[in-house]
Amino acid sequence: MQITNDIRYIGVNDHDIDLFEGQYIVENGMAYNSYVITDDKIAVMDTVDAHFKEEWIENLKAVLDGRSPDYLIVQHMEPDHSAGIDAFAKAYPDAVIVASAPAFTMMKQFFGTDYADRRQIIKEGDSLSLGTHTLQFVAAPMVHWPEVMVTYDSTDKVLFSADGFGKFGALDAEEDWACEARRYYFGIVGKFGMQVQNLLKKAAALDIQIICPLHGPILKENLDYYVNLYQTWSSYGVESEGIMIAYTSVYGNTKTAAELLAEKLTAKGCPKVVVADLAREDMAECVEDAFRYGKLVLATTTYNAEIFPFMREFIDELISHSYQKRTVALMENGSWAPMAAKAMRTRLEGCKDITFTENTVQIRSALNDESIAQIETLAEELMAK
Ligand SMILES: [Fe+2]
Ligand SMILES: [Fe+2]
Repeated sequence: MQITNDIRYIGVNDHDIDLFEGQYIVENGMAYNSYVITDDKIAVMDTVDAHFKEEWIENLKAVLDGRSPDYLIVQHMEPDHSAGIDAFAKAYPDAVIVASAPAFTMMKQFFGTDYADRRQIIKEGDSLSLGTHTLQFVAAPMVHWPEVMVTYDSTDKVLFSADGFGKFGALDAEEDWACEARRYYFGIVGKFGMQVQNLLKKAAALDIQIICPLHGPILKENLDYYVNLYQTWSSYGVESEGIMIAYTSVYGNTKTAAELLAEKLTAKGCPKVVVADLAREDMAECVEDAFRYGKLVLATTTYNAEIFPFMREFIDELISHSYQKRTVALMENGSWAPMAAKAMRTRLEGCKDITFTENTVQIRSALNDESIAQIETLAEELMAK
């Protein structure tokens, strides 16, 4: 795949993967992107996952046309991109490995060598000339690991953005960009909004026509759309108007209450109501929706004097991804000593800028007139806020 006159794609699609990064369900697989810039000197941008080293080396050979690469630029040391370094170094013993100092420390940890005799250590502001193309290196710590550098090719106006602007899904999958990029973003870098903001500030100073991420499609058109989404996500802003209701239910009574609230909200004109059963739906999808909308309703059962396990997991996920700036409402169910609302509230207290609604719903075993009236009042408050 040709990206510009001198830049070509040599990445791979992974349809065999069961869980990306050991936890994310990727129904449409995953792409590990890698690129070659052909100039007086040849630079290879990153490698691929361990299972695809041979395929990647073949892709590389096919575009080299008998030449040998001069540089391997390592932007990110996570093994989905770095596993091929060793194979590359053996195949091309004269090539120089280019990376940040912390990346070389990780190379030593992963491969037992930091290529001291054939390396070039780069830092923020350094550049590398390939002839016509000059590459500028921009530090992007914690997007998504501390050693990350992104690379700007000022000749073709291309930003190699490492994990930034990536998404789940192989490149041959036909699917909406934002849906799988959002799930990827909040799962992988959601915690590091401030660091993403810093990178966006640096990127704003560059004239970028093409973004080449390490996962997902190459972005060539309408770049404002993607950058604006990243602005919203990394500032924990509200992307879409609507309300998410996340529930767990043991015998269906809490579910019925959650669905009644959803009906009432829809009837009152709420533009979008998302209802999620935390025990059965993909947790990463639920986390993504919690960040997408500005209002979240949590409904769960009192369980072991605490809350039901899947709700506990959900709230823990939100906290560990820096959940903030949201309105939260609570619904609890308890047959003898309801305490779920208090337990959920206590857990969320560490989150920044959370506004709890005045109304909380309490269900005693099953809905009755009293709890139905509470749901009505909560629906009114959520629509008024
Ligand atoms: Fe990563
Ligand atoms: Fe990655």
